[in-house]
Amino acid sequence: MFENLPAEAFSRGSVIGWGFSVLTFLLCRYLVNRWNTQSEKRGRPGAKVKLVPRGRMQLEPQLNIEWNNIEPAKFRPFKPQYAMTMALEKADFQEWLLLENTYDRMTTHRSEIAKNHTQDVNLVVDDPRTTAAVYELYDTVVGYMFTKWPQYFSRDGKNIKNLIKNTTFPANAERSKQSPKRLLEYLAENVEEDFIVLEYDENEEEYIAKAATFIAPSGFVPAEKVGIKLSDIHGPVPKYDEKLKLSMNRFFRRIETGQLVKRFNWTIQNSDKIYLPKGSHAGAAEKVERLHAKDLDFDHTVHFRVERQTLSRLPKSRFLVFTIRTYLTPLSQLKKEGLGERLVEAIHGLPSYIKQYKRADAWGPAVEEYMTMP
Ligand code: HEM
Ligand SMILES: *[C@@H]1O[C@H](CO)[C@@H](O)[C@H](O)[C@H]1NC(C)=O
Ligand SMILES: *[C@@H]1O[C@H](CO)[C@@H](O)[C@H](O)[C@H]1NC(C)=O
Ligand SMILES: *[C@@H]1O[C@H](CO)[C@@H](O)[C@H](O)[C@H]1NC(C)=O
Repeated sequence: MFENLPAEAFSRGSVIGWGFSVLTFLLCRYLVNRWNTQSEKRGRPGAKVKLVPRGRMQLEPQLNIEWNNIEPAKFRPFKPQYAMTMALEKADFQEWLLLENTYDRMTTHRSEIAKNHTQDVNLVVDDPRTTAAVYELYDTVVGYMFTKWPQYFSRDGKNIKNLIKNTTFPANAERSKQSPKRLLEYLAENVEEDFIVLEYDENEEEYIAKAATFIAPSGFVPAEKVGIKLSDIHGPVPKYDEKLKLSMNRFFRRIETGQLVKRFNWTIQNSDKIYLPKGSHAGAAEKVERLHAKDLDFDHTVHFRVERQTLSRLPKSRFLVFTIRTYLTPLSQLKKEGLGERLVEAIHGLPSYIKQYKRADAWGPAVEEYMTMP
């Protein structure tokens, strides 16, 4: 998937090439399905997480789309019973980064957050391997954008023109002579996804977050999460060591270039902010005050927050890339969609330690009250 660096080398389908890609795609899909079915039958360790066999994936240009006609995806991943597992699904490179009608507004908003919190949201550990990985990430993202949406991101000498925003950004990280931090800012200003790159540390036997655009944190201070290992990042997460640490560390080591997985998580927040470092989480001993529906604004302030994450590996630096795309939807919208009952059931299905961590005893009863009101 990322094997074709530099970015210029992403293949664009001609008409013949396109027909051929469809055939290749169908063949690959058949082989992938077969491979997955067989690995499940063989009961291989970790076979529950389906992985596409490693190899190069084609990226097809989406020439016929218009960004402002694309409704944001409605991810509603809540289940009657919450299970604390990785819950990864295999994904296609074609859906790594998304363009939706929120693009202009949200990227402008992201630039503002980056400017207002410059010490906190675009973070890089200062070492040569991390610099190289940030360059690689930057070139990969930029190549992805102008290959998939050439009508909106076009090459203009040393720059890429962003034709949606009427701005430019460097076409190539190293040649731009910009600092890694500035390059991360360009990503934050031009893409709706957040990025975290992680490097394996032989001594710790774990991955360490080495650089990030953390524009949309929920309940943590980004600067406290970069430079530390995966299990410390998840320090405040209840039962992490018992339920996730082993499988995550194993999975993170296994994922190869050419493979992409995704997962979702969700919560309810009494705020319309994507940058929300405080107030979302409670410690085990904290007393959580119950909120009442009559005091809350379900049209404008109370939001369903869902985060779509992907994980993949850069080929040159071998760093992992974790992406997070955050969606906020007013609770009134979920009610309109007729999802009230399902959401209430999902809140009831949270185990008590997760309820406490997500402060569900504050918002849970109020959401139930609101959703069952006529
Ligand atoms: C398969 C990958 C991952 C899984 C299964 C996972 C799982 C979780 C879970 C269960 C939580 C608790 C909140 C919730 O989702 O309900 C959480 C929180 C968090 N995760 Fe992850 N995570 C993954 C990868 C990552 C990575 C790569 C980072 C990189 C920085 C990260 C950073 C965080 C942070 C900062 C929090 C908030 C912790 C706090 O409260 O301070 N996660 N994660
Ligand atoms: C950024 O800071 C300015 C000035 O304090 C403020 O008016 C604006 O609302 C802030 N924007 C964001 C997105 O935080
Ligand atoms: C685009 O930006 C350039 C340079 O900042 C400016 O001169 C031009 O008027 C802008 N065009 C539009 C359509 O806004
Ligand atoms: C969802 O998971 C990601 C990655 O683990 C984490 O950064 C984020 O804080 C979580 N979001 C919520 C709303 O729990």
